[in-house]
Amino acid sequence: YGDSNQKIDYVFKVVLIGDSAVGKSQILARFARNEFSLDSKATIGVEFQTRTLIIEHKSVKAQIWDTAGQERYRAVTSAYYRGAVGAMLVYDITKRQSFDHIPRWLEELRSHADKNIVIILIGNKSDLENQRAIPTEDAKEFAQKEGLFFLETSALESTNVESAFLTVLTEIF
Ligand code: GTP
Ligand code: MG
Repeated sequence: YGDSNQKIDYVFKVVLIGDSAVGKSQILARFARNEFSLDSKATIGVEFQTRTLIIEHKSVKAQIWDTAGQERYRAVTSAYYRGAVGAMLVYDITKRQSFDHIPRWLEELRSHADKNIVIILIGNKSDLENQRAIPTEDAKEFAQKEGLFFLETSALESTNVESAFLTVLTEIF
């Protein structure tokens, strides 16, 4: 974790999008700092964090951008997507609405981002299995139809967060 003093071979910008409260900021906190907070505040505007990893013997600086899911707190959309080579489209497996809104987020992403952007659909909060509202198969099917990668994660339990980022970063690479 953290950035070392080695030379950087690549800088990859990855954006997080999805409804408010699905866990975007906590997925980022887990990936960048190995931290998690249960009383996370809604994001206002745009924030980003970086983490440098070694992928196939190259140092890759992942610059992960995080914005508000709430419309009124969102920053200028075109600036957010500019230069992004990866995107994580996040819903909450316990909130039907957050999954139903995914096509809208995908549409926004496709109309603003580079056409070669690597996209992963993420069903977060997999630790809340007893409150699950979206069957894994439904999301998998949607992802397949849209040509997206797909994983279920838990920022709380640290499940698949690393894999989700590595899936995107390796594919960009
Ligand atoms: P906005 O900034 O408003 O767009 O929301 P967000 O998507 O960034 O959500 P945030 O990361 O702030 O998380 C919202 C709430 O969900 C917080 O109470 C988190 O602690 C909780 N949360 C995030 N990830 C998980 C998870 O994997 N499991 C569980 N049980 N709770 C989580
Ligand atoms: Mg947030």
